[in-house]
Amino acid sequence: MATYNFIDHKYDVVVVGAGGSGLRAALGCAAVGLKTACVSKVFPTRSHTVAAQGGISASLGNMGQDDWRWHMYDTVKGSDWLGDQDAIEYMVRNAPAAVYELEHWGVPFSRTSEGKIYQRAFGGMTRNYGEAPIQRTCAAADRTGHAMLHTMYGQAVAKKTEFFIEYFALDLIMDEGTCRGVTAWKLDDGTLHRFQAQMVILATGGYGRAYFSCTSAHTCTGDGGGMVLRAGLPLQDMEFVQFHPTGIYGSGCLITEGARGEGGYLTNSEGERFMERYAPTVKDLAPRDMVSRAMTIEIREGRGVGPKKDHINLHLDHLDPKVLHERLPGISESARIFAGVDVTKEPIPVLPTVHYNMGGVPTNFYSEVVTKVGKETDKVVPGLMSVGEAACVSVHGANRLGSNSLIDLVVFGRSAALRCAETVKAGATQVELKPEMTDGHLARFDRFRNAAGKTSTAALRLEMQQAMQEDAAVFRTGETLVSGVKRLEAVQAKRADLSVDDRGLMWNTDLMETLELDNLIGQAVVTVVGADTRQESRGAHAREDFPNRDDKTWMKHTLSWFDDASGKVKIDYRPVHDYTMTNDIAPIPPKARVY
Ligand code: FUM
Repeated sequence: MATYNFIDHKYDVVVVGAGGSGLRAALGCAAVGLKTACVSKVFPTRSHTVAAQGGISASLGNMGQDDWRWHMYDTVKGSDWLGDQDAIEYMVRNAPAAVYELEHWGVPFSRTSEGKIYQRAFGGMTRNYGEAPIQRTCAAADRTGHAMLHTMYGQAVAKKTEFFIEYFALDLIMDEGTCRGVTAWKLDDGTLHRFQAQMVILATGGYGRAYFSCTSAHTCTGDGGGMVLRAGLPLQDMEFVQFHPTGIYGSGCLITEGARGEGGYLTNSEGERFMERYAPTVKDLAPRDMVSRAMTIEIREGRGVGPKKDHINLHLDHLDPKVLHERLPGISESARIFAGVDVTKEPIPVLPTVHYNMGGVPTNFYSEVVTKVGKETDKVVPGLMSVGEAACVSVHGANRLGSNSLIDLVVFGRSAALRCAETVKAGATQVELKPEMTDGHLARFDRFRNAAGKTSTAALRLEMQQAMQEDAAVFRTGETLVSGVKRLEAVQAKRADLSVDDRGLMWNTDLMETLELDNLIGQAVVTVVGADTRQESRGAHAREDFPNRDDKTWMKHTLSWFDDASGKVKIDYRPVHDYTMTNDIAPIPPKARVY
């Protein structure tokens, strides 16, 4: 093995990832005087939050009465009762303040005629416990994530967060169960770095790129989840993968749910607004899992549109062009570029496309990472937090409602910073790092750098993505999942046969993509194994062989550990928090999910 030397850095807090949750956590820590680094593989304003379109949920009540309790009810029901109700209460109660904080920092929200923040309708968001759709999603046209990300980056710089940009995080520095920092590879000059910290906050986003067709950026390779698995810690609820109903047919680019929130609707080959049959009350504004399943059924039953009858039409052509121009300019452009469609005249061809991972690093609502040890199901891992899509807090349970992601980012980014303010002492002495804490990091890095097998990274990535796309889709069966498990076992075994051509250390994209692929593979494996094991249908996990939700046996979170050397998965469970945070609201008891 080559000799590698680390360049050392010492911080109170190191945040890995500079999307919405990472920036909110970092700026909050820096603001209370903690020496804070933010390490990111891309320039912060290129993080995937930039792609978030439709908006951020909060019961502001700007477009009519609203109540955090209604938001809580919708979120618990949307989660198909897999969400932790204490965390959901924390999120929805803190949501309005989080949105006003963004407004005061300068997020250019769209406005009502009275000058209030404009709110639009989104799937599963209702008034008075399911009565009818409500306008709860605060929007900056259809570029809400873009606006938030740029504003928060400015705030983070102003609060003296120290940025390490185009540093690729390699592994967590673990010391007998405590996280002491993270190692990283600086992409432009090839140097290796040890970032020591009292607290590491993983804000590395989801792993959408495990699939062939997704709305996620190419950078969404679940690097935090990969590091957590290699550190011997579990991931939670990985079988729950969200398909967004309206990815553009062919390219998978996102067409915001806000399009339906503004009055858009879906039709099949008979010109029928079929969602009226599946969700009579909320119709096209049903939650994503339901709309994706309805679209898939329409296509399967021969009512898809197009020459191959393999997609669905999304109509905006009846809307006032002024609304399209003011509220949906971004998707109007995407439809033109990626589907050749003028949305004022023609429908957009759409298809459900992987969009979000409900699963991730298990945390409590302070954003502290938890694991299960013996009978202790919520054991905090010292020195480690996680926020955003990387985490599973779990406010989304088995199915996330649209616009609950952006609010999750800022509410839990803030909660992590508040917890750090309580538990991290600025400038406190830290233990000396020992070589054995990072030997494994270097061995893995060197192994992939010198990989001289016969399988290219691109070929193995495609094999994984096709297996995931075909076998862990909107609908699953025991048969497809067993096939998925076998195909993923073959993929993980082929890691030993990878070939990396570039042996250099500077701008070695070949090596970086290989390290990213390695992160993806572990998560793809635990996704299919978790899905195969869970013998029920709940939220986004729709088993045709087990079509009903089974609360007696399965109202529990899946924990999965992945042994990197053998590729074996260990599964265990922890209870869903079916209790609230305060006595201000009673727990919402499970019932049938009808819309
Ligand atoms: O459809 C959208 O604009 C996506 C929003 C979300 O995933 O929350």
